[in-house]
Amino acid sequence: MSLQETSVSEASAAAADWLGLTGARVVIAGAGGIGVTCAQRFLDAGARLLIVDRDERRLRQLEADPAIGGRGGRTLAVDLTEKGAAARVIGQAVETLGGLDVVLHCVGINDRRPLLEFSDDEWKRIIDVNLTTLFALGQAAGRRMTEQGHGRIIALSSVSGLLAHENHGPYAASKGGINQLIRVMAREWAKDGVTVNAVAPGYVETPLTSEHLSEGGNRERLESQVPAGRLGTPDEIAGPVLFLASRQAGFITGHVLYIDGGRTLV
Ligand SMILES: NC(=O)c1ccc[n+]([C@@H]2O[C@H](COP(=O)([O-])OP(=O)(O)OC[C@H]3O[C@@H](n4cnc5c(N)ncnc54)[C@H](O)[C@@H]3O)[C@@H](O)[C@H]2O)c1
Repeated sequence: MSLQETSVSEASAAAADWLGLTGARVVIAGAGGIGVTCAQRFLDAGARLLIVDRDERRLRQLEADPAIGGRGGRTLAVDLTEKGAAARVIGQAVETLGGLDVVLHCVGINDRRPLLEFSDDEWKRIIDVNLTTLFALGQAAGRRMTEQGHGRIIALSSVSGLLAHENHGPYAASKGGINQLIRVMAREWAKDGVTVNAVAPGYVETPLTSEHLSEGGNRERLESQVPAGRLGTPDEIAGPVLFLASRQAGFITGHVLYIDGGRTLV
């Protein structure tokens, strides 16, 4: 092993020790661009992982991926909008991982159209997937975590939960709802050693956004709205997520952490 490789591995070991996530039992709901990057970073930190998504094909790919399945990451195919799904996920996590320390809610859909075009059913679909699944998964996790006296819940909000972006009506409402839901969960469960926080990214290129970004001028327009002059990367979301899950963040609860290159400053 070269000197350079030694220092990289020593640095990783030191970082893993600082985070204190070795052996942590982690559930990630949502195997999309951000969820999978977070999964890899949790595995780097020595955590044990169950990744949940409704997309079975995607989960089979992850099981076969040396960076996920090859490092012990397990998967479970579940549509989280189905009744009883959240309790099933938490039950399965406890059985598969031997307990539950961290839950990351990384599930979301969007439909960029003017509010006047949305039917009741289309509105309900986005609220159900983005917000109601957090209520259900957070409640199922919160039951177990408050009883055991520790736990970390982290949800993906968005800058859209604060800013009034056009053509984002139901999505923005779902993210504003997440911001308040995590605050109430945080307040009710703090005395039982459970922290609940959200991270709120600006635009990050993933399957959720790539089509929109590739359409005429959208990427350039969106980049120009960010003081940092660029979009974020999934790794720039994963780092703060791991921090909030780590032992360093034990006294941080009820926060929405904007990860947006300054987008919400302007
Ligand atoms: N990408 C961005 O620019 C961005 C910005 C701000 C916030 N976010 C938020 O981050 C989170 C993750 O986004 P992403 O970019 O990784 O999206 P993504 O589209 O890549 O992944 C979302 C995943 O959620 C899964 N999913 C959807 N409905 C589900 C259901 N009912 N049950 C189970 N799984 C379901 C999808 O199959 C998909 O794998 C979302 O909450 C999103 O709103 C993303």
